[in-house]
Amino acid sequence: MKALLVGSGGREHALAWKLLRDCPALDLIAAPGNPGIAELARCSPVSVTDVAGLLALARSESPDVTIVGPEMPLALGIADCFRDARLPVFGPSARAAEIESSKVFAKALMHEAGVPTARAEHHTHANAAKSCARTFGAPVVIKASGLAGGKGAIVCDTLDEANRAIDDMLVGGLFGQAGAEILVEEFMEGEEASIFGLTDGIAVLPMLPAQDHKRLSDGDRGPNTGGMGSYAPVSIVDSQMLDDILERVFIPALTALRKDDRPFTGVLYAGLMLTRDGPRVIEFNCRFGDPETEAVLPLLESNLFDVMLAIARGESVIGHKLEWSPRSTVTTVVAASGYPDEPRKGDEITLPRSAADVHIFHSGTAMSHAGKLVTAGGRVLAVTAVADTIVEAQRLSGEAAGQVRLSGKQFRKDIGWREIDRFSNR
Ligand code: AMP
Ligand code: GLY
Repeated sequence: MKALLVGSGGREHALAWKLLRDCPALDLIAAPGNPGIAELARCSPVSVTDVAGLLALARSESPDVTIVGPEMPLALGIADCFRDARLPVFGPSARAAEIESSKVFAKALMHEAGVPTARAEHHTHANAAKSCARTFGAPVVIKASGLAGGKGAIVCDTLDEANRAIDDMLVGGLFGQAGAEILVEEFMEGEEASIFGLTDGIAVLPMLPAQDHKRLSDGDRGPNTGGMGSYAPVSIVDSQMLDDILERVFIPALTALRKDDRPFTGVLYAGLMLTRDGPRVIEFNCRFGDPETEAVLPLLESNLFDVMLAIARGESVIGHKLEWSPRSTVTTVVAASGYPDEPRKGDEITLPRSAADVHIFHSGTAMSHAGKLVTAGGRVLAVTAVADTIVEAQRLSGEAAGQVRLSGKQFRKDIGWREIDRFSNR
């Protein structure tokens, strides 16, 4: 078997690791990959946004399946292009990927399908948007409709902040075209959970719930980031709640997409707020989450490759079953000096010695001309520990992150704190 994996982050490193575990003889090609992935795959230096280049690579390699990690190539139509060329691909069409690439579309779909979510209005004019924010009252959330690299949602504690965010996007052009249309959204209170559903467009195999930690510093303080860590599973999402989420979120969203002639295949990611009135959708993504994937995949005992291959071939997921380890994971992200504003590139990294039950997934790393491992992005490594308890997983993950030698490195020591609080209050 041969597979092409598109992407270069920790999510793709974790996917590469899992695919090779499931299928040790797999001939894996990554585009463009990273130094961690290069230990498992042949890397080809084609950018994730170069859909024509990726198609040319696939035509020359003829993989049995292409797996697309990030949202950008999906929004650019990579899956459509590969399907037209009769190349099996795991990932939704551009029209189905609009569930992530257009928050205005996603919100309209949720309203139409009755999927529980926050009230919102879409606007292109600042005055109308500000008047809507006044009606909702603070706190209120201002969101760019298009893809903004995870930075497009601004939670505003005051109306002044909301007005500023509205002006920044609609007048100042922050986020460019992605912010030319915005959502003004009601604030929801609760704990967040990320759930990935592997889907053939109709049936869904839900994966273990995970929780991301967006803030830079311990205690959920400091600026928002792409995610400083994650853990799995999240025990408040029990099997009853998960059934409820399938029935009220995944199935109606997939049905509405099908009815709109944009069937979704691949992995649908629901970002949920667990409010007092039940789970409500914050956002949908058309791909696996990062760093949640690095926490979820090490707990998956059954074969993921077979399920992805079936979905890419247009087969049903019915008959496939996901089996999970009863253990827990904590993923601690090691970020570069200066992250998130201006991450420093080119700093040398020395990895700790490998240890049982600890996985070091590369995110923003590169090989320097001198053959040294150096920083090449804000989030540098995702360090996952697997243990019998979340307390132990946090300890092991933090210890390994602490042993990474990197000048000015930043990492949180409290990933999983909500779960640990629940655990110690039991
Ligand atoms: P998004 O880009 O939509 O995932 O939003 C990024 C983060 O902003 C989420 O993970 C939440 O922490 C926060 N957020 C987004 N929408 C809301 C909302 N309606 N209420 C409260 N927090 C929100
Ligand atoms: N962890 C958030 C994301 O992948 O969008």
